[in-house]
Amino acid sequence: MLVLGFESSCDETGVALYDTELGLLSHALHSQVEMHAEFGGVVPELASRDHIRRALPLTEIVLKQANKILKDIDAIAYTQGPGLAGALLVGTSIAQSLAFALNVPSLGVHHLEGHLLAPLLEANPPQFPFIALLVSGGHSQLMRVDGIGEYELLGDTLDDAAGEAFDKTAKLLGLGYPGGPALAKLATLGSAHFTLPRPKLNSKDLNFSFSGLKTAVLTLVNNNQPLTDDIKKNIAWEFQEAVTEILTTKCMAALRETGLDSLVVSGGVGANTRLRERLNAATKKKLCKVSYPRLEFCTDNGAMIAFAGAMRLKAHALQANNHEAAGAYAFSIKPRWNLAELTKP
Ligand code: KG4
Ligand code: ZN
Repeated sequence: MLVLGFESSCDETGVALYDTELGLLSHALHSQVEMHAEFGGVVPELASRDHIRRALPLTEIVLKQANKILKDIDAIAYTQGPGLAGALLVGTSIAQSLAFALNVPSLGVHHLEGHLLAPLLEANPPQFPFIALLVSGGHSQLMRVDGIGEYELLGDTLDDAAGEAFDKTAKLLGLGYPGGPALAKLATLGSAHFTLPRPKLNSKDLNFSFSGLKTAVLTLVNNNQPLTDDIKKNIAWEFQEAVTEILTTKCMAALRETGLDSLVVSGGVGANTRLRERLNAATKKKLCKVSYPRLEFCTDNGAMIAFAGAMRLKAHALQANNHEAAGAYAFSIKPRWNLAELTKP
């Protein structure tokens, strides 16, 4: 079964073709980062308009790359939520229109399920059950994953997400948008000069809290004016140490508490080199396995949506919209959508 996947929940338009027999055939991405940079963050209306411009040209690219034509497509998967309402509407309406025109089934995919399953696109994929650390711009969650749609939330952030903390701290250091990768790069030049707190590091639960860390950075920034490049890189270093220490400690606690020995990391912050270093070392010490998506599939992309959609369609074809049924041309988006609401296909 050949599945075309669309991702358009935020500031990246991603399109991909996944074949349930042959694996990922092609994928293409357009990032809107440059467009939003001058505004210091994502402008939802601009995002929606750009998704409109990019979706079909990217579809043509992935078809061409895979040597396929529209008629070869057996099903269409699209990000139905969570995300920016306008951006989701673009991907959803294009996917549904195309599914109707081609008379193929379609399926709305949960964006975070896409992230969660992205490591399964790699060679030697992790086997269920595993612990998933999902760290993106909007989420910091620890989950027990027993299969597709079998997700138990073990821990969540009480305030900011890890990626959000990276972005806000980067802004405080004047690094602009998007801050996470820039902050991570600066951190590699720094060393131990400052001390930041590790909120909830030794709490008994598996929850996170990152907003206090951001406030502590603000205090450091205020107390160390004028901010020289040296000060900035040392704050960046300590901030990255704090976040990655907290994430690593909680992952190891989740493995210990559940008795599982496999960890999967996904979402944009999963691209962080220092986090990977720490997780590699900690899991190795405990004889556990850790899996990551390739770097380009840590952040938003169409491949993870095509894949998650394909897994569900394969397991239970009836879950897809049946376009022959009455009212099948209607569609909805879910800007807010709890992953724990998902069920087995
Ligand atoms: O998963 P993603 O692309 O989008 C969401 O669904 O949120 O994650 C984006 C987040 C941003 O907050 C970005 O700053 C962060 O991931 N990020 C990083 C790195 N690359 C992206 N954070 C730390 N280190 C990185 N290398
Ligand atoms: Zn995402």
